Amino acid sequence: MMWGGNFKQMPDQQVLDFTSGWDVKSKPAYDERLLPYDIKVNQVHSQMLAGQGIITETELVKILAGLEHIKQLHNQGKFKLVPGLEDVHTNVESYLVKKIGVRIAGKLHTARSRNDQVAADMQLYLKDQCLEYAVGLKRLIKALGVAQSTFKQAPAPGFTHHRLAVVSNLGLVFGAWKTSLQRDNQRFTHWMDLYDKCPLGGAAGYGTSFKISRQYTAKRLGFKAPYENILDPITNRGEPETALAFNVTIMMKHLSQIAQTLIIFSMPQFDYLRLPDQFCTGSSIMPHKKNPDVLEAIKAKTAVANGLLNSLMMINSSNLVGYNKDTQWTKYLIMDLVDETLPSLTIMTRLLSSIIVNKQQLEQACHADDLNVTLMMEKEVKRTGQPFRRVKQAMERRCK
Ligand code: ARG
Repeated sequence: MMWGGNFKQMPDQQVLDFTSGWDVKSKPAYDERLLPYDIKVNQVHSQMLAGQGIITETELVKILAGLEHIKQLHNQGKFKLVPGLEDVHTNVESYLVKKIGVRIAGKLHTARSRNDQVAADMQLYLKDQCLEYAVGLKRLIKALGVAQSTFKQAPAPGFTHHRLAVVSNLGLVFGAWKTSLQRDNQRFTHWMDLYDKCPLGGAAGYGTSFKISRQYTAKRLGFKAPYENILDPITNRGEPETALAFNVTIMMKHLSQIAQTLIIFSMPQFDYLRLPDQFCTGSSIMPHKKNPDVLEAIKAKTAVANGLLNSLMMINSSNLVGYNKDTQWTKYLIMDLVDETLPSLTIMTRLLSSIIVNKQQLEQACHADDLNVTLMMEKEVKRTGQPFRRVKQAMERRCK
């Protein structure tokens, strides 16, 4: 390490990972994340085909065995997506063709298009991410609840416009943060209400003449129901992604505001609170430095989320009804957004649970000139029964 001699505790791998960003990391192919979902969708689709008598039981057994083999390989990190084969769906099918022959593997894609297939894969991926955000949020909300009650009685200056305003308490601040995140959590629940639906059966968007069962595939994949309209999830591809991105971006806006407040309150000039060394990084030249990198990274991630949300908003906004290739890019945008933002919840929970509040300094700050003047004025209004405006003007002259 180029720094750390002045640190009581060094940041752990999770913190370093968070602050180093993408400097020395790279990402796997985007479709690699879809592979487990694609296998599941293939399993259920082929079971539906067999159930409907579109393929035979023997064919089903072969297909399922082939898919199981891909799953094993994937779990061992041995199923590599071949770029020449376009995407995850074609990679899986080509592998099956090699493994069990085209006479059987060639039937897997009956009554289906990659359009409804990728929408189903993505919907499963999005649902999992939505749940991850909800779990992370719940933990953070709990940590804020603890801080709220711990510091309920701790006097602290309340700020407006970055200027001292009135005497308040730190519990109110933590409580405000908690409430905003509870609202964010509701937005994730609402997302689930709207989008827990299965796109399968739409095929290219306009259905199929095979007698399929959309109820069966929806149920087996764990969706509440199939989409009401088969064209809807295909022509509106990217909408669930955008809605999730919106929820995440608002949540990040809240985290960013928390981050900035903690940065300022922990400036040595304020010293209202201290960030433990393990959430800071040092300098390659200045021996005394302990920088609030985790919090700064959260602010950067908020900006990145905003940019990705904007791109998601634009893609598919002016297309002719039906599938459009533009929408493939929604996959990269939402996955980047998730990668960038999801770890913020754990890190923020850990950091908030270990900040050291300097109660003495906060108390001291409450004695600053003028900080009690609003309260005094209100007492005066109550005592004399004079109009508020008149008392305020008199007070203002005294504050000059
Ligand atoms: N990899 C493609 C995607 O993510 C699959 C859909 C391709 N569909 C098509 N009509 N070309 O969008």
